[in-house]
Amino acid sequence: LRHFITLDGLDLVMLTDILDTADSFIEVGERTIKKVPLLRGRTVVNLFFESSTRTRSTFELAAKRLSADVLNLDISTSATSKGETLSDTLLNLEAMASDMFVVRHSQSGAPHFIAESVTPGVAIINAGDGRHAHPTQAMLDMLTIRQNKGSFEGLRVAIVGDILHSRVARSQIRALQTLGVAEVRLIAPGTLLPADAESLGCTIEYDMRRGMADLDVVIMLRLQKERMEGALLPSEREFYRLYGLDTEKLALAKPDCIVMHPGPINRGVEIESAVADGPQSVILNQVTNGIAIRMAVMSMAMSGQVADRAARVRAQE
Ligand code: CP
Repeated sequence: LRHFITLDGLDLVMLTDILDTADSFIEVGERTIKKVPLLRGRTVVNLFFESSTRTRSTFELAAKRLSADVLNLDISTSATSKGETLSDTLLNLEAMASDMFVVRHSQSGAPHFIAESVTPGVAIINAGDGRHAHPTQAMLDMLTIRQNKGSFEGLRVAIVGDILHSRVARSQIRALQTLGVAEVRLIAPGTLLPADAESLGCTIEYDMRRGMADLDVVIMLRLQKERMEGALLPSEREFYRLYGLDTEKLALAKPDCIVMHPGPINRGVEIESAVADGPQSVILNQVTNGIAIRMAVMSMAMSGQVADRAARVRAQE
């Protein structure tokens, strides 16, 4: 890895390598994460142009567990509010000898743009861009599934709710297909499915009760109102009745079906509290796994950058 912007183009071997590397940071038989010196002397800058609780915090914890120096730039009080362009902000941060930018942005493609413009040797990690991708979220979800199910073989996994506006869903579909699950099922009203849904290689189901049959994993998504751009919002009460995961609908899946959600959850809108906090929920395990996955991705990207730089130096000699 050099940058980590999308799961497109990453094969089964690479995704398995990320999961195995993340596993190596988890203390055996425990849920604690080792501290290792892999990024000692490196500087990681968290650049969050959009709000975040889980992703930002776990990237910071992951960088610290890798022994990096971490700078969290507060965008609301940075010079971007005085009209400084993104490119100029980046140039100034690069001048502070930064090795890695972790970027969240409301514009799809922003991390790719930054990767094209930064000095070679600086790694860019996508922490969620617009509706495009959230690759570390998808990988922590895959780690959670593997921990609970042992492997991906034969699994039937549903993603439910606002798939249209979800960067998480796009990355999850890619990861699940690459890792070889039996079926990825999208359960949503037609108005919350992307126009290219038919071409994604998933099963599509409009009726949630029917769609719950035979599921091993159900992943719930919230209504992402911040990306709906003035579109007519579905009534929350109607959405909950048809697509909210309650105990009655969950009972239609396999008895050992696990319940996942990337967060933030909206209780009583897409998920009932009794389900979110219930015995089949692994929602908080997902959060814990975010630290190990982000350690894996950052350490692999940094070693890719170092190898790349060494190759360039050799080529110049
Ligand atoms: N899942 C996720 O991206 O959560 P945050 O917005 O809190 O980072």
